[in-house]
Order: sequence, then C-alpha cells, then structure tokens
Amino acid sequence: MPLRKELNQAYAATFDEAPAGTAFASGRVNLIGDHVDYCDGLVLPMPIRSGTWVSWAARPAGPIEAVALDYPGEALVFTPGDGHKTEPGHWTSYVLGMIESCRARGMAIPGMRMMIVGNMPRGAGLSSSASLCIAVGRALCAAAGVQDDESLALARTLALAAQATEHGYAGVKCGIMDQMAIAFGEPGHALLLDCRDLATRNIAIPADWAVAIVQSGVTRGLVDGHYNDRRMSCERAAQQLGIASLRDATTGMIAGANLDPVTARRAQHVVEEIARTAEAATAIEQHDLRRLGTLLRASHASLRDLFEVSVPPVDALVDRLNAAIGDNGGARMSGGGFGGAVVAVVEKAALPGIAEQLASDGITLEVLS
Ligand code: GLA
Repeated sequence: MPLRKELNQAYAATFDEAPAGTAFASGRVNLIGDHVDYCDGLVLPMPIRSGTWVSWAARPAGPIEAVALDYPGEALVFTPGDGHKTEPGHWTSYVLGMIESCRARGMAIPGMRMMIVGNMPRGAGLSSSASLCIAVGRALCAAAGVQDDESLALARTLALAAQATEHGYAGVKCGIMDQMAIAFGEPGHALLLDCRDLATRNIAIPADWAVAIVQSGVTRGLVDGHYNDRRMSCERAAQQLGIASLRDATTGMIAGANLDPVTARRAQHVVEEIARTAEAATAIEQHDLRRLGTLLRASHASLRDLFEVSVPPVDALVDRLNAAIGDNGGARMSGGGFGGAVVAVVEKAALPGIAEQLASDGITLEVLS
C-alpha cells in the first residue's frame, strides 16, 4: 500500500476522523559543497524522492498532538509556549522545535493533530531531520491557512525555523543547506545556494545524465560532536584571519597566516570547496560531465584528507564507484560525513553497464534523475 494511503488510514483509525490534508517534504543529497554552508559558502544540493509525510487536521480549541507511524506508543502533546521539554534528537524534539521556532518567527499556531511517516534511512546523511521539520512546517502553514507569497518568504522562514530547531532542540549547529535544499529544491534540478545571502538558482540536470545515491551502510549521527567541532575550527580560522567567515578567505591568506596545521587544513578545504562548487554549477550548465567528475573526485579527496570527515568504508565505496564510472562522471561522499550515502553522476547510457559491474560487489545504485 502506498505510504501516504497507509498514513491516512492509520490517522483515521487513531483519531477517529479523516485528516484535512497531507504535507510532504523530501530529503536531499548534496552534489558538491560540503562543510561550507556554515562558512557562508556555496552549495549544490538536490531533493531526493524519499521524505516525510505529515497528515494533519486543525483543532481550533485543542493542544498540538503528534504521533509517528514508526514509533507506536509515543506521542507529543503540548500547547505552544507552555515550556514543554523533549529529549534532544528524539523525533518529538524536531516537531516541538519546529512549531516553537515558527511561533518565535511570528506565525500564528493553530491547535492541530498530526501523524507522521517517513521512508528515509536515518543516519544516512540525507537530511531526514530537516525533511521532518519542513514537512511539519508545511502542515502547520496548511492548518493555519497561510500561503506563500511570490517572494517565497514563507519557504525561507520555514528553512530558518528548521535550522533553529536543529540548533536549539537537537544540539546540532548545522548550516542552512539541508533546510533550504528541501524548502526550495525542485526534482531533477540541483539548487545552487549562496549561504551568505540565501540566493538560490535551480539548475536542470541534463536529460542524458543520471544522478544516483549509494548507501554505504555506515550510519552516523551529527550529534556525536565531530560536526560541531569542525564548525568551531572554521570559526576559529576566520577569527584568526580577521574576517567574518571563511567565504572571504583565500589560499594565500591561509598560507601567510600562523594557523595551526589542522586549522589550516580545514580552512583550505573550505576555500577550495567553495570554488569547486561554483565551477560545478558551470560544468552542469555547460553539459560538461568530465569536468564535473574531476570536481567530484577532488571534493571527496579534500573531505577525506583536509577536512577529515570521511571513513575508510566510504572511501573504498567511492573508489569502487569511480573505477566503474571512469572519466565521464564521478562519485563522492555527500553531506556531513562519518558514513552515510555516496552520490554519483554518470551518463545515463552508461548506467546499465556501471550498475552491472557494481552488482557483482553487492552495490546498488538508487537513481534520482
Ligand atoms: C550536514 C549539515 C549541513 C552541512 C552538511 C555538510 O548535513 O546539516 O548544514 O553542513 O552536513 O555539508
């Protein structure tokens, strides 16, 4: 049974009424531009097919009540502003955080019921938590009867509220890439996002290219401290260079400054990754898959050697993919690192041959576009 239908049936069985609507938000994969969003850099993510659905109905006089199909027996019941507490990182913390963060941004919050279901692997680096937050935000807007205007100010508000949720309710000092990718991304397009001013441009993936995800099977959690630690290194580097963020740094500045070797490596990654991302956007627009492949491989090497957020099983998977793909395309780790999914861009015509080679190693490609 399709997940959405199952969700609506479960909603009716639980709450004894049909939902008024169902909101959806996808996950995302990042093509290139990792660990640069919190340095005001450029990123190039795209939405994936899987994501989170939230069925909802407004209850003008009631509290907010949320349940999740995958977590029977658990429920979140609260009245916005009542100081309700949740365990950081638990699914209820994202729902509570998103609603309180929207309220803090001036949105009127109606009483409502919600039932949530998702089909994204957690800990796979595909932003299941941002997907949950944006889906809850969209359900909230629908229940409150709020519609977006042409400037898409509401989508941006939802992205910022979702980021505030990660910071304040899950303890992850993430950048804004995941939330903006999900709020603004279009299927079949990469979203070039400038994290300094939140300017966006959707870039169509050429029809004869395929973007695919491969699960490494190594799960990770951003809450484990490595992520916040990397962010602090970048902030320290910017401070020592006397600039607002590493977006304003150059490799010359880093070489000339007296940064400790680790901090210098982190900063060098950021500066070069931002340049690679700008070049990757041009490569896609110019239909240059070879160039894009070179950039994807260089990005992986930098995340592995300079930023040190990859792990050996992911490196081995990326090497195996790149060997099968050859020069016309490439693969790299994607997202925060320490495991999770790998992304590959290849020529569509070459896909069956590549998939066959990889199948002998038990590697499966999930094709996005
Ligand atoms: C996670 C964070 C993002 C971003 C990536 C790395 O997905 O949530 O903000 O920093 O890691 O690019």
